[in-house]
Amino acid sequence: MDTIKSVNEMQQFVIEARASGKTIAFVPTMGFLHQGHVSLLEEGRKRGDILVLSIFVNPTQFGQGEDFEDYPRDLQQDSQFAKAAGVDIIFAPDASAMYPIGYATYVDVDGITSNLCGASRPGHFRGVCTVVSKLFNIVQPHTAIFGAKDFQQLAVIKRMIADMNMPIDIVGMPIFREDDGLAMSSRNVYLSDDHRKQALVLSQSLNLGRELIAAGKTDAASIVSQLTDNIKMQPDADIDYIQICHQLSLEDQVTIDADSVLLLAVRFGSTRLIDNGFLREA
Ligand code: PAF
Repeated sequence: MDTIKSVNEMQQFVIEARASGKTIAFVPTMGFLHQGHVSLLEEGRKRGDILVLSIFVNPTQFGQGEDFEDYPRDLQQDSQFAKAAGVDIIFAPDASAMYPIGYATYVDVDGITSNLCGASRPGHFRGVCTVVSKLFNIVQPHTAIFGAKDFQQLAVIKRMIADMNMPIDIVGMPIFREDDGLAMSSRNVYLSDDHRKQALVLSQSLNLGRELIAAGKTDAASIVSQLTDNIKMQPDADIDYIQICHQLSLEDQVTIDADSVLLLAVRFGSTRLIDNGFLREA
């Protein structure tokens, strides 16, 4: 396994790999890898001759007052995870290589970026789409793998790929959970023991939503209202959003159907957690 920091070197590597008929699978990350990332890498290992992992904490997707400076970083531990998962190349550029002085080009996806995380984190998806476009141009993957925990991000990237005619197969992988149900996230390390316990209310809300539907409820607003009451029982839960949306348009739904996804964002102290899940089997 090699680590490449230079954009030119990375591009040269993939040009040669593609010229020799090799397929490239790519897992873009911000590092501080956990088992959820490992599941993406394992899928990537199956889908390409060469598996590239990028580790780049992208400054343009963090808003003012967000955790860019504090975002957890551990390249040494990430390298161990990567090696065990069969990664061929870690691409770990510096911010100055990705955004040199004079940098002025950004990618905006309209519509599905306007609600949910897009509403509470203005500019976030502009930063994500910009860096993902750049990474795709540098790594030139045939396939790229993303986690479904960032459900809106996955939908936005699929939209961008389709709209910009990027010849890349986007694969979404299921959320990877701790044994007690908490969705794995690099940000979980910020949680105090008490907040870690309270945070279980996110995955419990998905189960509760499914139970309400199994019991015959189909009205999205009343389900959201019950889930809101339930989450508020946790003393430090500060709800950012609880929404039931159509899986493709991400527009709010009135009535539950097989396309309904429950999306949650809740803060515990300064840690903002997200989770999501389909509410009804197709
Ligand atoms: O999901 C992430 O870790 C990031 O948003 C991504 C896709 C690597 C872009 O920085």
